[in-house]
Amino acid sequence: MTDFQSIINNIHNQLINEEVKGVVASYIPELFKQDINSFGIFLQHIDGSTYSAGQAETPFSIQSISKVLALSKAIAFEDNRIWQRVDVEPSGNPFNHLSLLELENGIPRNPLINSGALVIADILLTHLKNPKEDFLNYVRTIANDQTINYNTKVAASEKRTGYTNYAAANLLKSFKNLTNDVDDVLDFYFHQCSIDMSCSQLAKAFYLFANSGKCVNNIQHIPVSQAKRINAIMLTCGFYDEAGEFAFRVGLPGKSGVGGGIVALLPNKFIISTWAPGLNAKGNSLLGMQALELFTTQTKLSIF
Ligand code: DON
Repeated sequence: MTDFQSIINNIHNQLINEEVKGVVASYIPELFKQDINSFGIFLQHIDGSTYSAGQAETPFSIQSISKVLALSKAIAFEDNRIWQRVDVEPSGNPFNHLSLLELENGIPRNPLINSGALVIADILLTHLKNPKEDFLNYVRTIANDQTINYNTKVAASEKRTGYTNYAAANLLKSFKNLTNDVDDVLDFYFHQCSIDMSCSQLAKAFYLFANSGKCVNNIQHIPVSQAKRINAIMLTCGFYDEAGEFAFRVGLPGKSGVGGGIVALLPNKFIISTWAPGLNAKGNSLLGMQALELFTTQTKLSIF
């Protein structure tokens, strides 16, 4: 049997000493306060067993990882109607680029780039009675953890400096692909991105994508076929213009965030999450990607 605990211990011990750790995100000023030396790994096996190394229980800003959770909730409401407003093609562009959005008449390439996530936020605003409260409750339910919360300082920080997201939301609105007020959509989006979660909480929240739509408490939140689709979107779009590189090196569906988190999974087997705030040039965690590459190489567990 694979000795997951010693494998992740060894990976953690090896990478913690790397001199090149990447750069902490600074365009959201509050995130720049993160300690570059933070590093955690958590593995949640589908059979319930768990393994961890380093700061796996320390909450951090999940940022774009929230886009997958928001997408799953929107799909639960809209099912396949969602694809009329957002496509499922990799963009080959950075997460915040707008040029394709204008060329393609306000239909974002996919729900994991910022413009696509804004459309998903708009859908949630339309369906949820108390959007921020209800979305947080959904995240708490699927992670089976009532302590998860928004980080209002991070949300306020992005509200002050998120100029490109203001541009994206206004462009979407001009193409009539937002039904709610631009400011309400942005406020919801900045809050969903600001949620603080640890590697262990994230791995539990993503259990449903590895378990055919059923969360850790065995509740079916999305149909089996939609879990498959969300995994396909994570594989092809979860790392923006580095999605090919992630599939090539790691070989798992996954999602990154500029807080330095990554969650990846092998359906019916495990969910693995990492946190290391130093990012590479594409905005993905440098040590996190290295850790996951070592993990799938050493365990020979990937979708390929
Ligand atoms: O909208 C933004 O720019 C951030 N709230 C989230 C971006 C992000 O996490 C990109 N991921 N690597």
